[in-house]
Amino acid sequence: MGYEESVAAHYGSTNVEELLLAALARDGKDPEHFEPADLHGADQLHIGGPIATTRVAGRAGIAQGHRVLDIGSGMGGVARHLAADFGAIVHGVDLTPEFVTAARSLTERTGLSEAVTFSQGSALALPLADSTFDAAVMIHVGMNIRDKDKVLTEAARVLRPGGIMAVYDVMLVGGDAEDYPLPWADTADTSFVQPPLAYSDALSQAGFEVDVEAKTLNEGIEFLERAIASGGPAGVAVPALANLLAAFRAGILAPVEIYAHLPG
Ligand SMILES: C[S@@+](CC[C@H](N)C(=O)[O-])C[C@H]1O[C@@H](n2cnc3c(N)ncnc32)[C@H](O)[C@@H]1O
Repeated sequence: MGYEESVAAHYGSTNVEELLLAALARDGKDPEHFEPADLHGADQLHIGGPIATTRVAGRAGIAQGHRVLDIGSGMGGVARHLAADFGAIVHGVDLTPEFVTAARSLTERTGLSEAVTFSQGSALALPLADSTFDAAVMIHVGMNIRDKDKVLTEAARVLRPGGIMAVYDVMLVGGDAEDYPLPWADTADTSFVQPPLAYSDALSQAGFEVDVEAKTLNEGIEFLERAIASGGPAGVAVPALANLLAAFRAGILAPVEIYAHLPG
């Protein structure tokens, strides 16, 4: 099995859609027709959930009618959030077939299928034409991607001149000892956490100008403490969250955002 197949097997191993629809029914919502916010961020697999998505979208300047690419779109929670709250037209690409199926189904049930579409594929070979998007977001995906140069070169190819790139990943900020499992990988074989400098170098190599870098460690610690106390989000094992929290507290890993743009 190549490493991308191992990554997809990691994420595709739980039937998250069934878990989310059951949670909606327990909340007294109609699982066939609901609002994206009714899922309370359970469809967003990153530190900070919808609060972080709103911050990233604001910092990236995403607005009404913008064509946005969501690289590693998971269950589609970020894409639906950007469409419902910011008026963006979003296309998500994800490696994991089960997530793409769930993303399409959940989007259909929220009535957003005209504004939000998905394809299954690799961020390293995007199945998309050149100069198609105004902005791209990549949220908690780079930890599973060995070749940061390649993914950001692909992003640059599909963005228009002046297009914005927003990266929000867990990055290496000190030391090198990581205990597994982590939420994105059961072993080091599919984990490629790198320092912010590796990302900014890769962005520059790909033709971007880097604008801002921001670490959100305290938010990350508080988010994980709450997630662990509540038994963890659907499909994410508590020991993996506990290892990540320990790495945050030890100053080894941290959530980091980097914003960049292509010359206009
Ligand atoms: C932690 S989840 C984050 C999902 C989503 N961005 C969110 O915040 O809800 C990571 C996602 O990245 C996807 N992924 C990992 N490597 C990828 C690659 N090379 N190409 C496309 N998707 C990838 C996985 O399938 C998974 O859905």
